[in-house]
Amino acid sequence: MSWALHRVVCHPADSAWPGFWAPKAACERKVVEIGFGNGDFLLALAQDDPKACFVGIELSITSVTKAARKVLQRGLDNVVLVMGDAAFMLKEAFSPGTFDEAYTNFPCPWPKKRHAKYRLSHGNFPAAVSSALKMQGVLEMTTDSEPFAEEFAQAVSATGAMTVDLFEKNPRRAVRTKYEGKWLAQGRDIYRLRFVKVDDFVLPSESEGGFRMHRILSVKTSPAKAISGTSGGEGAHRYFLGEAFIGDDGTELLQVITVDDGFEQRFYLRFVPKPDGVLVKLDECSQAFRTPAAKAALAAIAEVKIQCADGRFIP
Ligand SMILES: C[S@@+](CC[C@H](N)C(=O)[O-])C[C@H]1O[C@@H](n2cnc3c(N)ncnc32)[C@H](O)[C@@H]1O
Repeated sequence: MSWALHRVVCHPADSAWPGFWAPKAACERKVVEIGFGNGDFLLALAQDDPKACFVGIELSITSVTKAARKVLQRGLDNVVLVMGDAAFMLKEAFSPGTFDEAYTNFPCPWPKKRHAKYRLSHGNFPAAVSSALKMQGVLEMTTDSEPFAEEFAQAVSATGAMTVDLFEKNPRRAVRTKYEGKWLAQGRDIYRLRFVKVDDFVLPSESEGGFRMHRILSVKTSPAKAISGTSGGEGAHRYFLGEAFIGDDGTELLQVITVDDGFEQRFYLRFVPKPDGVLVKLDECSQAFRTPAAKAALAAIAEVKIQCADGRFIP
């Protein structure tokens, strides 16, 4: 089986993004599934409608890898997979009003109170999915937890953009997911909720200016060592500058960890010696969104002042 995962798994920081729509089918309909797990539901929809385009967003790298291999095996050219938190990806990687349909099947209900922040009914997800849908676009959520269904209905309706159009117990569904099968086998009830977008709601992106960090700074001497171990940022947008690695040719790599509203990124900055200073750029192997925290980390490097042996500061 092929391992050409790059044909299926897309990252919004790739230069080809969002060109993946172009060669794929006719895109008469754009559909997204959030938390696709083993991918069987998404792939069944995609096989059924070759003229539509399907995007799957999933946190788990194992799920993404397995589903991508199934896409390759079945020769589907109308599916792309994105790895990451859907609340972030829907807001930052797709224009508002992109999708006709969104599905999320059996998202983790996180029943314990202390885990509530991980539920899709919390945080940005309700607003992000509402924004990513077209007017009259449809969101469908299935769950085995009635309290979660109720909480989700309230949270999505609270955006003011979406209205509940169906709240059904034990629906008959043509395609069943792995978790659906598991809960049905245990005799649990299943709840299906459907929403329609009735108000033109847009959640603005925070990564304005594109997803790639092109910024190149010129400094007199490499600050990587000097700023390694420092942190900064504001509110929900924080960064940490980790270890610095120095190569034989004087090039340095600095590890950067950023968190924006719980969305974590890890990437490297490369410090390349030049006759008139040091170029600082995103390492070629790293992919990073220009989130407020990532921008703050770059700004910190731009502002760093290196103290020389004679006590002078080099700007
Ligand atoms: C309980 S499983 C359900 C899988 C599949 N939909 C099914 O019904 O068999 C929930 C899935 O959602 C994914 N997930 C959880 N939170 C997510 C998020 N914020 N963004 C994307 N995927 C998420 C998890 O990695 C997991 O694969």
